[in-house]
Amino acid sequence: MLDRRQFLFAAAGCPVAASPLLSAIAAPGSENGAAAARSDPRLLGWAGPLADRLDHPALTIEGRLPPGLQGVLRRNGPAVHDRHGFRYGHWFEGDGMLQEFRFAGGGVSHRGRVLMTPKLRREDAAGRRLYTVFATPVEDAAPVRRPDDVNVANVSVLDHHGELLALWEGGSASIVARDSLDWAGFKSWGHGLEGLPFTAHPKVEADGTVWAFGYVLGEKPVLLLYHIGPDGRLVKARPVHVAPLGMVHDFVVTRRHLVIVIPPLVHEHGRAGTFLDSHVWRPELGSRALVVSKDDFDDRRWAQLPAGFGFHHGNGWEDAGGVIRFDHCVAADPRIVTDSLRDVMRGRLSPAAPDHYTRFALFPDGRTRIEEEGGPAEFPRIADRLTGLRNRYVYMLAGAGDPNWLLPSVAKRDLERGTEESFTFAAGILPEEHVFVPSPDARAEDDGWLVGTVLAHERGVSGITVFDARRIADGPLAYGWLPYPLPRAFHGQFSAA
Ligand SMILES: [Fe+2]
Repeated sequence: MLDRRQFLFAAAGCPVAASPLLSAIAAPGSENGAAAARSDPRLLGWAGPLADRLDHPALTIEGRLPPGLQGVLRRNGPAVHDRHGFRYGHWFEGDGMLQEFRFAGGGVSHRGRVLMTPKLRREDAAGRRLYTVFATPVEDAAPVRRPDDVNVANVSVLDHHGELLALWEGGSASIVARDSLDWAGFKSWGHGLEGLPFTAHPKVEADGTVWAFGYVLGEKPVLLLYHIGPDGRLVKARPVHVAPLGMVHDFVVTRRHLVIVIPPLVHEHGRAGTFLDSHVWRPELGSRALVVSKDDFDDRRWAQLPAGFGFHHGNGWEDAGGVIRFDHCVAADPRIVTDSLRDVMRGRLSPAAPDHYTRFALFPDGRTRIEEEGGPAEFPRIADRLTGLRNRYVYMLAGAGDPNWLLPSVAKRDLERGTEESFTFAAGILPEEHVFVPSPDARAEDDGWLVGTVLAHERGVSGITVFDARRIADGPLAYGWLPYPLPRAFHGQFSAA
């Protein structure tokens, strides 16, 4: 079990106090999201929700919902950008809001709930923003003593072994009450692990086994590795010292290994400014892939990759010869997170180096190779049952948008044939992540549906779309429309109930 003393420095990884210079640059509160959206309707995705609680009993369906599609799509993302007269200056900071679309009885209903984390409740009680979360300095900020003091629970969801979790990455996962969608406590995976970071991208294998990691930045940065059983109980956890280290958002599992790609946007301990500002782009380091044995977290090796900055992987697998292959949506530099996702909060859609769909091979002798480079792509998803196993298809947002990180298409890539088909939405509709849902009688890998959300910004409403995953280019089988817009969000999971 972990020695808790090893993590006494955890708070060093938390956001630090503001400098006057940064306050001037960020200009928080200078404009709210609703005002920005009047100048460019696409900014409606960053305006925040109409209310903390949203309910709509029946979306307006266009087309035909497949009768076999029954269950719940839950999504999470930053939502509360403006509160108490203060607007956050980076997309990643908004307090999380869980959206639930329930497919049942031939229709779709919606519930949305802002997650009332301890952080948000303390701020509401104080009547002001209290904390510098990630990139926006808050004047007279309260001290951040532990990561969960600023936990906004805003990245993804995990429905595992009957427990519904809202995931962040800077601190604990949050337990969410399934019936009410109320925030219900921080998740601890075991004694000594309370309050330690847990990724928003845990990997759940077909048998329910969960692999995860967290990062703790500070004087002695650490990656924390988790192995959780199908029964939800911790099997093992292990801290691994990795330097230099910075934000790491996603990773890959194969049959025998975990692969964690560490981009050269590294944290400099003691550097002034916000958490984001304490990261420095050092491309001379390249990207480094840490390969860890699932059986023994002490069995580790490194592989060197070209410098790049990416958030997401679709999948990885390993062949009989020990060659590991995985994909990564990766950009030439980190401007998306350092610049563009700040600009969007100030009402400016600025371009960034686009993420490209890229496939890497890691050979047992240490060599690495880029095997495929595709076009702009983000939010890759696969048939979840193939996590860590060879997949043929990956589904993602794609296409060159304006700006180039607002991708206008949903695409399906066939890794065996090297082909891609896609559907580009009409002007005025922007898609978000789409997840693959297998049909009840699925035989082929792509027997099922692709389900996701869209923002019809010119009409001022959000909706869901359902594609036949075998025929993406044909466009959605059905749309379902809400009478209100939702904040643009990150990730979701489809569950049976
Ligand atoms: Fe993500």
